[in-house]
Amino acid sequence: MPTANKIILCLSLFIGVTFVYVVLYNQKTSTVSLTETELAIINNLRLPPRNIVQDDSNKLLHNPKAEILGKFLFFDTGLSRSKQIACVSCHQPEHYFSLPSDSEITLDKQVPTLLGVASFSWFMMDGRADSLWAQALLPLENHIEHGGTRTQYVQHVLSRYPELYQEVFGGFPYELISVDLPAQASPLSQYQQEQQTWQQIPPHIQQAINRVFSNIGKLLAAYQATLWPAESRFDHFVDQINTATNRTIGEAISLLTSDEVAGLKLFISDQGKCLRCHNGPLLTNGDFQATTVPTPHPSAEKGRLKGIELAVADPFNCLGIFSDSNPSECKELIYSKRHGDELDSATKVPSLRNIGKTAPYMHSGQLTTLNEVLHYYNRAATPFGAHSDLEPLKLLPYQLNQLEAFLLTLTEYDSPIQQQQETSAATK
Ligand code: HEC
Ligand code: HEC
Repeated sequence: MPTANKIILCLSLFIGVTFVYVVLYNQKTSTVSLTETELAIINNLRLPPRNIVQDDSNKLLHNPKAEILGKFLFFDTGLSRSKQIACVSCHQPEHYFSLPSDSEITLDKQVPTLLGVASFSWFMMDGRADSLWAQALLPLENHIEHGGTRTQYVQHVLSRYPELYQEVFGGFPYELISVDLPAQASPLSQYQQEQQTWQQIPPHIQQAINRVFSNIGKLLAAYQATLWPAESRFDHFVDQINTATNRTIGEAISLLTSDEVAGLKLFISDQGKCLRCHNGPLLTNGDFQATTVPTPHPSAEKGRLKGIELAVADPFNCLGIFSDSNPSECKELIYSKRHGDELDSATKVPSLRNIGKTAPYMHSGQLTTLNEVLHYYNRAATPFGAHSDLEPLKLLPYQLNQLEAFLLTLTEYDSPIQQQQETSAATK
């Protein structure tokens, strides 16, 4: 081939590769602006200043003394068989009430953040608990978490916090005064011996123990209802754009870059489809959806289908005798869907607040980076015979980068610890 032709070939190859790179990977967004409709959607994602939650089944919610005692319990390693584990061991305030990936504690599930958790109607990835207080009782008796039993916890709380307990509940459980309780006993103990010990306890004492045990859950819930994320750069951007006369991203509206705004637009668009499941200030609908992530955890295999069955059977649910509500108020539990293909392998949609800081991702940490999550959504391959709520996005690589750039704007400005102190100062 003559040299001139070689040069032309090389040159056109170079131009071709550069073109493909620029178009697919590095497209710079020149001017971006937001429409009225987009602005209305975005205003719904802005974080409100306070957590307004209600749970008729727990009358201790928003009771300041219950919040204080609940906080003590959340940090108390006395609520574990080994005396070494507390809720805070896995839900760490300095890590958005989740577990850092370099922690010594290794689990087969991801630890979800608790910031904003009280606003949900269902808890755990399959929604097996219908209230925050019923949820709290699960890790306490789970043998790979706190590992103890209700008789241990009831005795611990009544002897360690007698005054505060009586202040909150207006007295001491009289059935338990001068009764010798076994150190460990529960119908759910991992040891058969302790299950038998439970069976030997007279029913009225069992009920008194269960009452205090459910109160422990309600105290923990009262504390968790005070947890709320801090504002992020995204929230301040929303304020900025609401007060601007011209909605073009640039000098006046500078809190997000044009790429981050392009990512936001994709997030809320029919093309990105994220809003279908990730909406509201916590960027979740709190509902259950199937994403068919590879290697699901056993409790994700049946997902919501099994979760609702467990919630209905739970003696500590909204309709149970330990609930503070009238049965007619338990609408979520009464009317929730119990059967149907769409429940199969559906798991809870997580919050995306601080998502840039809580890798790895998905319920068992199957995906290491946000980039992997987005590539997964882009293909959304559904295994044969499985039910999935995802559709392949078919976005270009530069669009996935823009989506990722937007997700990173959801990180809190302040350190979570600082925020915690501010919130508790504000509630005093
Ligand atoms: C050993 C680690 C560990 C400990 C200790 C622990 N958790 Fe968790 N927590 C998890 C994991 C893992 C999940 C997710 C489980 C699932 O969805 O099946 C979870 C889920 C939750 C949820 C549900 C969140 C949601 O969005 O549905 C709440 C609430 C919660 N924990 C509160 C607590 C409280 C209160 C305590 C103390 C009584 C506690 N946790 C102790 C690891 C832990
Ligand atoms: C059909 C509902 C649905 C849609 C649409 C959807 N998601 Fe999700 N998303 C989920 C569910 C469910 C999970 C949890 C999956 C799991 O834990 O296995 C999840 C998890 C995630 C996670 C990981 C969260 C974590 O803490 O592990 C990220 C990040 C995420 N989604 C971002 C997005 C983005 C960005 C879009 C749009 C491109 C999107 N999602 C669209 C339902 C959806």
